[in-house]
Amino acid sequence: MNSEVRLNWDTDVLIIGSGAAGLRAALAASEYADVTLITKNTVTESNTHYAQGGIAVAMNLDDTVGLHIKDTCVAGAGLCDVAAVEMMVSEGIPRVGELLDWGANFDWEGTLPRFTQEAAHSRRRIVHKGDATGRETTDVLIQRVRNTERIHILQNAFAIDLLTDADEKKSGEASVKCYGVTAIVEEQVVCIRAKSTILATGGLGRVYPCTSNPQIATGDGFAAAWRAGCEMIDMEFVQFHPTTLFLDGAPNFLISEAVRGEGGTLLNIRGERFMGKYHEKGELAPRDVVSRSIQNEMYLTQFPCVYLDITNKTTEFIHERFPTISATTKRYGLDISIDLIPVRPGAHFMMGGIRTNTDTQTNIEGLYACGEVACTGVHGANRLASNSLLECLVYGARAGRNAATFANTQRAHPPNLPISSDVGTSALLSTDAAAELEIEAIKNAIRETLWENVSIERSAEGLQNTLAVLQDITESLGDVVTCSDTKDVSTIETVNMLNVALLITQSALARTESRGAHYRSDFPTQDDATWQRRILITRDNPAEIVPL
Ligand code: FAD
Ligand code: SIN
Repeated sequence: MNSEVRLNWDTDVLIIGSGAAGLRAALAASEYADVTLITKNTVTESNTHYAQGGIAVAMNLDDTVGLHIKDTCVAGAGLCDVAAVEMMVSEGIPRVGELLDWGANFDWEGTLPRFTQEAAHSRRRIVHKGDATGRETTDVLIQRVRNTERIHILQNAFAIDLLTDADEKKSGEASVKCYGVTAIVEEQVVCIRAKSTILATGGLGRVYPCTSNPQIATGDGFAAAWRAGCEMIDMEFVQFHPTTLFLDGAPNFLISEAVRGEGGTLLNIRGERFMGKYHEKGELAPRDVVSRSIQNEMYLTQFPCVYLDITNKTTEFIHERFPTISATTKRYGLDISIDLIPVRPGAHFMMGGIRTNTDTQTNIEGLYACGEVACTGVHGANRLASNSLLECLVYGARAGRNAATFANTQRAHPPNLPISSDVGTSALLSTDAAAELEIEAIKNAIRETLWENVSIERSAEGLQNTLAVLQDITESLGDVVTCSDTKDVSTIETVNMLNVALLITQSALARTESRGAHYRSDFPTQDDATWQRRILITRDNPAEIVPL
């Protein structure tokens, strides 16, 4: 043990992340074990908190589990793990039911929730609370977590690296085991030891400049897992949401797909409604199709955005159905009941991630993953709208239960591990203004090259260019494979962004076809004969092609 690293926390089950997946996991785990939940910001800050459209669930009278499975698999473009989808869709019904029992105040119509429509769903099956479903969901879960004695919450605790016994193990010995995490807490590097650990760190939208994701989404969990030796899968599949707000001075902000679900139309700068040219379902075509079509219209008109028009609805309807969107746009001078909304696509969701089975186990013993950071294969090459919150509830609950059961088989707390190679010293680097500027410039360089070459449309040439840029950045950062040199959160985030940028780019280069959210202009068609397969990356083995 490095003497400068304070060992200050032991727990049965450690959960990293306070979105829907982490919170739901904590509730499940606490039925069997003591739980510590850490989160890098406040407990309310997560992608989940900003979720707008709703939760897809087959509860409507004309709906069935079979139809929801079918829609999910069609959107997933041949790469869904059907068993994992069946589990999500069927277990999703009791998971949403209990959320309602716990007090979720979703919109209601008579004796049923008011189901809304979103793209590529064959039924109206999205339960929601106006356009603030994520806030309602996290409020309910956080309140319940706070009322559970066995759950301890540690806020502003930034997880750096997973603690494993990899260095102790000789090759051929039993599998690597996870013992918790190193983290920055109150400007000190601490070691949080756990009998089992759940990664629920959410997405990575912030590796792109245009995104719907909040600042926390820098891909930390993906990067830490990869550095620890986890199998990463489907990393080429990043979903771009068609409609993020494009307004001078306004922050990244999503305009929910539900706006199109309720009749909103897309117009180019010339005022022409264009989606009919691209897909029979028009504005409700799959997300990848709508995003590419918008990008094409922006190119054809040489204009940096298109417009979303919901002025066909009454002012009352709009303000009641979309209160968050109308209030936010109002702050920037738009009244969406009379004005067109300027929008363009932005990075939204990562379909790939840490490979897990339906019990949420990773290839590292004692390490579980759930929510957006995990990949059970439920989304395939493209996620169906509003299936993510459902996934978080279902697989979050499974992760909590399984991790606690595992923890209870571990008789003692894990040993003191030598962690100096992972952690280094406990002193935080003093980040003077110049260093901060440099780190910000590196983050922006990563974002720009990904946007240019690894976003909605990709090609071998562009992907190779980005690999070269990422290589230069890596060299300029020194040895960045581990976070051993620094304890500054922003610098570690930059390393994490660089790690995940490489994973996305390498996977995108390997997949020489177009499928779901991955579109290659040099291989524009789907090639089932060669590519109904998945791409697996580990630290030692880039881009291995594995069967479904
Ligand atoms: P998150 O909710 O992102 O939570 C991750 C947590 O991990 C956060 O608390 C974060 O602070 C913490 N964390 C991250 N890194 C670290 C670290 N290094 N150390 C400690 N803690 C860390 N999906 C739907 O199904 N329906 C919708 O309507 C919908 N709308 C969306 C709208 C927006 C604007 C966005 C951004 C996404 C939306 N999605 C929607 C997608 C969905 O919200 C997310 O995929 C889902 O909420 C992810 O949940 P999660 O628990 O996996 O991660
Ligand atoms: C939205 O409200 O458009 C986002 C829904 C989702 O990502 O599932």
